[in-house]
Amino acid sequence: MSTKSRKQDHLDICAEEGIEHSRRGGFECMDFLHNALPELDFNDIKLESEFFGKKIFPIMITAMTGGGNGAGRINTALAEAAEKHGFALGLGSQRPMLEGGGAQSYMLRKAAPSIPVLGNIGAAQLGQYPMEKIEGLVSKVEADGLAIHLNVLQEMVQPEGDRNFKGVLKSIGKVCERLDVPVMVKETGAGIGRDAALKLREVGVKWLDVSGSGGTSWSKVEYERGGTPPGFGEWGLPTAVTILMCKDVLPVVGSGGVRSGVDAAKAVTLGASAAGASRPFLLAYNDKRLDAMCAEWKQQMRICAMLTGCRDVDALKKAPFAVTGWLKDWLE
Ligand SMILES: Cc1cc2nc3c(=O)[nH]c(=O)nc-3n(C[C@H](O)[C@H](O)[C@H](O)COP(=O)(O)O)c2cc1C
Repeated sequence: MSTKSRKQDHLDICAEEGIEHSRRGGFECMDFLHNALPELDFNDIKLESEFFGKKIFPIMITAMTGGGNGAGRINTALAEAAEKHGFALGLGSQRPMLEGGGAQSYMLRKAAPSIPVLGNIGAAQLGQYPMEKIEGLVSKVEADGLAIHLNVLQEMVQPEGDRNFKGVLKSIGKVCERLDVPVMVKETGAGIGRDAALKLREVGVKWLDVSGSGGTSWSKVEYERGGTPPGFGEWGLPTAVTILMCKDVLPVVGSGGVRSGVDAAKAVTLGASAAGASRPFLLAYNDKRLDAMCAEWKQQMRICAMLTGCRDVDALKKAPFAVTGWLKDWLE
């Protein structure tokens, strides 16, 4: 099956119900401690912070698409929304570009001149192409950085999955040495543990997008495409846990099951430099409410800051909260 038609399958399946983890990422086990006396003017709350050398509102639309039929239209809409609201944007896997097609759908600089835009490629593909081609993924789309995705779980259950993840860390290190933009390593819904984070830092990775479990389950998506064996639909490190494991190792994007601006605020309070999400933005695009959802998430995040007495992102990182339920067991 071609990469293009696989990407189309993914967009179609991700628009359906029943492909998220049953247990959420842990934000539901966090309660902010309400501050009845914040002594703040809501208009003074500024959550903008630095991300890949640019100022953003700390939300990232994380990697989804590119290459295939309607991908250019979706990417342009995501880029315009991200630019308008000051979010960062991740491109979907640029594997189609390596295979010789679809480049136009990733060229988003006109739609998003001022925000950070990150390229994207799978770790398993790094060893299969010469380094000049990997460099081209960044330079051709004028990206601010490259996100390399780790998706070992997905590949294990994907009918046509890559099974060889040997040498991946070394390949990532070579890319870090060679590129003149920072490299982020991201998961795709199963989370990054502390040991992996330390190894990635050692080879020169500058950012992590933890993408833990609690949102889109890529094994469930692959089961819809005939993937086997069953039993892995709920696999993964929950997002709240993976943020806590990695936040002292490298700056992190907290993603995987972020489903509102309240979740995004909680991700930042747990230690993420920005919150990230994918599927909610796809659903909002399909429902023609992308702009409305971006505005709503920003407003929710800013209200969380107000209600916890936090004027900026540094204060929000220290907002007091209580932990309940299964997350409490994990932390203990
Ligand atoms: C339709 C769709 C396509 C995706 N394609 C990619 C991809 O090409 N590269 C990548 O690194 N992650 C990809 N992802 C994974 C997301 O970036 C993200 O890590 C994961 O879906 C968890 O976030 P969520 O729960 O907010 O969806 C995709 C996600 C969706 C929903």
